[in-house]
Amino acid sequence: MKFANREIEIRKMTVSDSANVAKLDRVCFTTPWSEESFEYEAHLNPLAYYLVAEAEDGSIVGYMGIWHILDEGHITNVAVHPDFRDRGLGSKLISEIIACSDVVGMKRYTLEVRVSNEAALHTYRKFGFSEAGLRTNYYEDDGEDAIIMWKE
Ligand SMILES: CC(C)(COP(=O)(O)OP(=O)(O)OC[C@H]1O[C@@H](n2cnc3c(N)ncnc32)[C@H](O)[C@@H]1OP(=O)(O)O)[C@@H](O)C(=O)NCCC(=O)NCCS
Repeated sequence: MKFANREIEIRKMTVSDSANVAKLDRVCFTTPWSEESFEYEAHLNPLAYYLVAEAEDGSIVGYMGIWHILDEGHITNVAVHPDFRDRGLGSKLISEIIACSDVVGMKRYTLEVRVSNEAALHTYRKFGFSEAGLRTNYYEDDGEDAIIMWKE
């Protein structure tokens, strides 16, 4: 499928994607995860399921992860490279991962998001997530609060 006029494939993340996903994370977040963290998620964490969005040149332009805990899906992260935002790629990743997660028995979904992250809040609300609480002083870098969201 095409996003930003580039052919993009959405597929399961593998260990060999770890360096490229970590590179994207550094572009998207102030406290990015390490390459080793993504290796662990792809290879060793039995609860984890990750999708990546790969462009024709092999670069990773988006990813999303979820942990399957009992019948809940805990969304760890979703990120899209700035050049590819606002074209539906984040929504595509969310809908694909929820479709896969429903199949394996996840019934409720949760995540945390910065109170200032309007784009993410708007996107999650579109998928039926609603605010269920606040974690004050949650983010280590600047002490920003996190909104806890759930989708039943
Ligand atoms: C959140 C994120 C993944 C969304 O990815 P994306 O590919 O842009 O998502 P989509 O294009 O599917 O949807 C974005 C929506 O947000 C809206 N949006 C963008 N900026 C916005 C803003 N400042 N305020 C409100 N809505 C905004 C867009 O209009 C679009 O809404 P629409 O589908 O109703 O038109 C992306 O912004 C991102 O990677 N951000 C940095 C990482 C991050 O914060 N991740 C979330 C961690 S909890």
